[in-house]
Amino acid sequence: MALQSLPSSRMAPLAILLGLLMAACFTFCLSHQNPKEFALTNPEKSSTKETERKETKAEEELDAEVLEVFYPTHEWQALRPGQAVPAGSHVRLNLQTGEREAKLQSEDKFRNNLKGKRLDINTNTYTSQDLKSALAKFKEGAEMESSKEDKARQAEVKRLFRPIEELKKDFDELNVVIETDMQIMVRLINKFNSSSSSLEEKIAALFDLEYYVHQMDNAQDLLSFGGLQVVINGLNSTEPLVKEYAAFVLGAAFSSNPKVQVEAIEGGALQKLLVILATEQPLTAKKKVLFALCSLLRHFPYAQRQFLKLGGLQVLRSLVQEKGTEVLAVRVVTLLYDLVTEKMFAEEEAELTQETSPEKLQQYRQVHLLPGLREQGWCEITAHLLALPEHDAREKVLQTLGVLLATCRDHYRLDWDAASEAEECQRGWALQAGGHLGSAGLAIKWKPEG
Ligand SMILES: *[C@@H]1O[C@H](CO)[C@@H](O)[C@H](O)[C@H]1NC(C)=O
Ligand SMILES: *[C@@H]1O[C@H](CO)[C@@H](O)[C@H](O)[C@H]1NC(C)=O
Repeated sequence: MALQSLPSSRMAPLAILLGLLMAACFTFCLSHQNPKEFALTNPEKSSTKETERKETKAEEELDAEVLEVFYPTHEWQALRPGQAVPAGSHVRLNLQTGEREAKLQSEDKFRNNLKGKRLDINTNTYTSQDLKSALAKFKEGAEMESSKEDKARQAEVKRLFRPIEELKKDFDELNVVIETDMQIMVRLINKFNSSSSSLEEKIAALFDLEYYVHQMDNAQDLLSFGGLQVVINGLNSTEPLVKEYAAFVLGAAFSSNPKVQVEAIEGGALQKLLVILATEQPLTAKKKVLFALCSLLRHFPYAQRQFLKLGGLQVLRSLVQEKGTEVLAVRVVTLLYDLVTEKMFAEEEAELTQETSPEKLQQYRQVHLLPGLREQGWCEITAHLLALPEHDAREKVLQTLGVLLATCRDHYRLDWDAASEAEECQRGWALQAGGHLGSAGLAIKWKPEG
């Protein structure tokens, strides 16, 4: 009995231990089941699930980690070098500052239509996790440049950022096509131009296109395949929304892009924009059209001359005098200020550089803006606008009043203080605080008609 009981009493703990081990192993194996085994049964589903899971995980980690993450808002913000940008942000190159900027994609209702239709390159070969660790390593590498591990790190980074040819091969194998900006624009224009597209699809196409034409080269490419004219013709649409978004695209495409500006004038964009401003349209449409008009006129004296010829000043005058268009009035006044000063700068520049044949200046000399403004009654209109409630708006108006002063002098009965104050503005003095503005505003009177 003793001999038998000894092993059995030893056996009991052993069996318990064994049982525990098996249970532990079982749970362990369950939790570490190789996803590839699932992949055999349903490769597509599980691999996307896997990617999704990795992504959510990566997103959670991104929040808390040392990696410098850019938090996009609805406004464009400059990106610092090395900052990680969350997927789905808009990134652009600011041509004026040379900086990269990013913002959240706008939550426009039409935007949602496009979701899922476009391939997100990141999710296929690279997960955000891969990208994140690569970026983290990259950053560390920069900080420890002198260390011996440097080379090893560089090799690691190289390994993670594979050459584009390799990537393309991978994509070919996956049967995925990387579209160039040009191809995307052609596709969007076709979508917009197609009679079988719904209104929402058309708007979504324009909305997307706007993002691409911010880049100067893209805007010129748009022109090269006839896409610009299609968008200009969109201004003729009977749908106010199409007008609005066509103007949205054009405003971005014209901006500081002389080639596109010239073509747009040839394509009749100016007339169409003015027609929209002169007719009954929703305020949102007029806002974007006014924006497109400003982009088209800026730094383009030829367009400014056409604008005057086509009665643009009358159109703007009616616009400003409509009820409930204060927002537009401020923008109009700002545009006029810009145009007047642009011409002044062109003259100053020609004087300074002593050019023998200042082509640009000659073009500006043919823009008879100030006489036009006086004849069209802008001296009075601008003075009236000093009554706008907003401080910023009044500041803009006073600024414009400053550059109009010499032209409008006989229209205003000015007391000495107001005159000198407005003249200070004209000489580019920084505008003073509201108290000053108020007193200048009160002091300026205009002669009644006749
Ligand atoms: C737009 O459509 C019209 C006919 O509906 C066609 O003639 C024109 O070539 C198209 N334009 C572009 C750029 O696709
Ligand atoms: C667009 O409208 C203008 C008038 O606003 C008209 O002269 C022009 O022929 C129209 N163009 C097209 C392509 O429909």
